[in-house]
Amino acid sequence: QLNQKHMINLVLFGKPGAGKGTQAQFLKEKYNLKHISTGDVFRYNIKNGTALGTLAKSYIDKGDLVPDEVTIKMLEEEVDKNPEADGFIFDGFPRTVAQAEALDNFLESKDMKVDATIALEANDEVLIERLLERGKVSGRSDDQDVEKIRNRFDEYNLKTAPLKEYYEEQNKFHSVNGIGTIDEITLRLTKVIENL
Ligand code: AP5
Repeated sequence: QLNQKHMINLVLFGKPGAGKGTQAQFLKEKYNLKHISTGDVFRYNIKNGTALGTLAKSYIDKGDLVPDEVTIKMLEEEVDKNPEADGFIFDGFPRTVAQAEALDNFLESKDMKVDATIALEANDEVLIERLLERGKVSGRSDDQDVEKIRNRFDEYNLKTAPLKEYYEEQNKFHSVNGIGTIDEITLRLTKVIENL
C-alpha cells in the first residue's frame, strides 16, 4: 500500500512513556525514515530560548498540550525541511483530532498520506514507573512528579484517545503490546509494518 512517491509515513501512537521515541530510533534506521518528535522539537526550542520554546514551556511544564495552531505550524515546517525523506515517523503528533485533520490535509497537498498509525499499549503503572525513572536522569520537567504525569495521561485520554476511532475509520489503526524488551517490541512493530 505504498503511495505514489513510494514513501511510507507512520504515526507512532501511545500514552506518555509508551516507548514511541525509543522505538522510532530503531524504525528510522531500518526503513530509512525521518523521525519527527514534536516533543523533541519543543525541548530543543526551550533549550535554545526561542520564542516558540518560551511559549511551549508554559504548557509542557504543567503536562498540558501546546495549542494546536502552534504545533501544527511547527510540524509542517519540520516536514518541509526534509524534502528528500523517504517517509516520516511522526512521534507525538497528531495528538488531537484537529491535528490529525491538519496532517491529512497537509500531506494530501504534497501527494502524500499517513499509511499507518501504530499504538504501543501499556498500563499506567508501568508508564509511571518508566517516566519517574527517566525524570531522575534526564531532568525532564514533566517527568518529575506523579501529578504532572497523571495530568499528561488525562490530556491523552481526553484529547488524544479519540484519534483511535479517527484512524480506525480510515482502516489505518494497528496496536501492539508495548510491554516487553525493546527488541521484542521492535519485532512486533516491524511485523505490522511489513504487512502493510
Ligand atoms: P512528548 O515528548 O511527545 O512526550 P510524551 O508523549 O509524554 O512521550 P514520552 O517521550 O514521555 O514517551 P515515549 O512514548 O516517547 O516513550 P520513550 O520512548 O521516551 O511530549 C512532551 C510534551 O510536549 C507534551 O506533554 C506536550 O506538552 C508537548 N507536545 C508534544 N507534542 C505535542 C502535540 N502534538 N500537541 C500538543 N502538545 C505537544 O520511553 C519512555 C521511557 O521508558 C524512557 O526512559 C525509555 O528508556 C523507557 N522505555 C522505553 N521502552 C521501554 C521498554 N520496552 N521497557 C522498559 N523501559 C522502556
